[in-house]
Amino acid sequence: MCGIIGYLGGQEATPILMDSLKRLEYRGYDSAGVAVLETPRPGSLIRTSVTKSEAKVDDLITKLKAGMPSGHLGIGHTRWATHGKPTYINAHPHTDCKGQIYVVHNGIIENFAELRRELQAKGHEFTSETDTEVVPHLIEAYYKGDFLAAVRAALKRLNGAYAMAMFSTEDPDLLVGARLNAPLVVGLGDDEYYIASDITAIIPYTKRVLVLGEGEVAAVTPLGAEVSTLDGTTVKPKLVHVDWDVSQAQKGGYPHFMLKEIHEAPEAVANAMRGRLTDDGVVSFREFSPADEDLARLREVLLLGMGTSRHAAVLGELAIEDWAGIHARAVDAAEFRYRRPTFGRDALAVVITQSGETADTLAGMRLAKDREALTVAVTNVFASSAARDADGAIYLHSGPEIGVASTKTYLAHVVSLYLLAMRLATAHGRVSLERKQELVASLRELPDQVRGILEREKEIASLAHKYSRYRSFLYTGRGFGFPVALEGALKLKEISYIHAEGVSGGELKHGPIAMLDKNFPVVAICTAGATSEKMVNSVHEIVARDAPVLALVTEGDTSLDGVATDLFTIPRTEEAAAAILNSVVLQLFAYHVAVELGQNVDQPRNLAKSVTVE
Ligand code: G6P
Repeated sequence: MCGIIGYLGGQEATPILMDSLKRLEYRGYDSAGVAVLETPRPGSLIRTSVTKSEAKVDDLITKLKAGMPSGHLGIGHTRWATHGKPTYINAHPHTDCKGQIYVVHNGIIENFAELRRELQAKGHEFTSETDTEVVPHLIEAYYKGDFLAAVRAALKRLNGAYAMAMFSTEDPDLLVGARLNAPLVVGLGDDEYYIASDITAIIPYTKRVLVLGEGEVAAVTPLGAEVSTLDGTTVKPKLVHVDWDVSQAQKGGYPHFMLKEIHEAPEAVANAMRGRLTDDGVVSFREFSPADEDLARLREVLLLGMGTSRHAAVLGELAIEDWAGIHARAVDAAEFRYRRPTFGRDALAVVITQSGETADTLAGMRLAKDREALTVAVTNVFASSAARDADGAIYLHSGPEIGVASTKTYLAHVVSLYLLAMRLATAHGRVSLERKQELVASLRELPDQVRGILEREKEIASLAHKYSRYRSFLYTGRGFGFPVALEGALKLKEISYIHAEGVSGGELKHGPIAMLDKNFPVVAICTAGATSEKMVNSVHEIVARDAPVLALVTEGDTSLDGVATDLFTIPRTEEAAAAILNSVVLQLFAYHVAVELGQNVDQPRNLAKSVTVE
């Protein structure tokens, strides 16, 4: 997501903000800005200097150097657009009507549209398209002489995710930070303080950091930092000593971006659902909102993608077919673009691309547009080519993914496609309310269940250690387990260079089984589902050929005890939700195999994050 820095102390704030924003650049961003509370000249009023750029931090720095604001309190931001295009106006900091309150924000404010309407009705004027701008206006509305109290009152009204730094010209010795579902720390220097979304920003300045808890507010003054809840109860914050260099800090202390990003899966899964889903399975996407009648006339859904995104597409295909009862097919966009099209205006083309720039996927979308199909891009990058050119966009809100092999964005893609399937099911009058409620309940459990899997990383690492000596693998599954097998195999080959193939359980005995022997292990997805008994039979056939089997099974299922060589259990859930949990296990498995083999996990040989040529 975006990057936040705040400073209060004895030094000039501007150079520190510029330096910190430079260090946040690695996260990816589209625009940047700072607000500095200027030290008043004798006889003049206190004022805030705001400098923004819709380009890179270097451009912002050039502007700042031309008229360096002098002051000891300031906030800065690198923006990764989510609500509103990457423009000068939308760049942070945002302010209230009077230009007294300044806010930088990471995250998504789910109920911003209703808050904006409420504030506009009271006469507040908005200048940007962002969700963030409601925050300074809301604080302004609650301000009665106590900035901190107004901040708390405003924050209580927000749903969603936020990390923020803010100040008011009315309270020139107070810098405030707050967080909910997004990280924020307070760095403690010598009589100076920093607020940052990412320790990378402040690493040269301090090693002592207060980690804010969920729903906590930090009030920083020259006298110190006090942390409290939204209700004003003081809490003792967690003080940690970070002994990281910049590279370690960028990776959040993990050895690789890929591992950090796998550990961001719970948030990625939650963010893909945030504000889009009710308990009754009513789904709404802000930037893709065709009427029910327009969705009800669809007879076919094409899901276009490449690589990992194509595997997400296959899971989407299954959900759309099963829940919405519409003919759906996941297609390799590079092949699709050269086929003779049979579809027309009654088709929906779902363009699945985390970068939004994959050349083959974009070409597939153009073909779909030529045939007058409705198009929607499911992407992580705001205003990317796919998002711009499609009729609508569903954003993943995963934050930047730096590891070349996609992990968290794949999971967010799958969740987004499940929501799309529910949206289509509603429009087509399919799936009972009870069934929708069951599906929603299982989706809502996912972030915690994924956390549970991540806590068992050591178990997966020891399996990876054991299996890393093999040179070939088969991955197999059925139903929602089949695309999981395809993606598990792709992950392993991408980063460890071990030969791995994904095949369906049914296909196994039509060829692939010929390869199996004691040196050819099989990863079998056997978690509960419509065809799990068939998978149990397949595992018996595999072990009869002496091949080692690592089976993923549902907790409490004993059917493979003593049959599979190794078992890894996942919680009982819907088959579609299990696909997410199984995928996380296989991402960690591939990661640890590659690490065992000493491979360059974040930048595998011959691969690029975004393939913008055919
Ligand atoms: C490249 C990457 C893959 C990715 C694929 C599609 O091949 O190496 O990890 O899955 O592109 O990328 P996209 O940005 O369209 O999802």
